[in-house]
Amino acid sequence: YLMYEKLISESLKAKRFSHSPYSKFRVGVALLTNKGKIYYGANVECSSYSLTICAERVAAVKAITDRQKKFKAVAISSDSSEFAFPCGACRQFLSEFSDNMDVILVRSKTKYQIYKLQNLFPHKFKLK
Ligand code: THU
Repeated sequence: YLMYEKLISESLKAKRFSHSPYSKFRVGVALLTNKGKIYYGANVECSSYSLTICAERVAAVKAITDRQKKFKAVAISSDSSEFAFPCGACRQFLSEFSDNMDVILVRSKTKYQIYKLQNLFPHKFKLK
């Protein structure tokens, strides 16, 4: 998984773009497309708390509206001392685009875990 070294360190850097004055819990994401481009995301909170947008979906909508809909991997870093898994809503959202992508949970440059999105989120909701 040496190929993911850069993605992992970029996700750690992306935490600095977090807007999280309420929870003070930063999440940083680096999303790799099948064309090799990296999109960054961080959580954006709102005083009406439930309007908060997760880092994963921020990165995904940036890529999608740049016409990059096929994802190879997503690296997720947070302020937690444990591995932070993507929430259920983000799993559904990402699986809409690439359910066989790699999901990399990052604690540090050398401490990470890699999952297939399909294993984290089997049986996604589908229209039809
Ligand atoms: N958060 C994410 O950015 N991604 C997740 O998958 C779960 C939670 C953010 C939302 C909120 O700003 C903070 O983490 C605490 O819930």
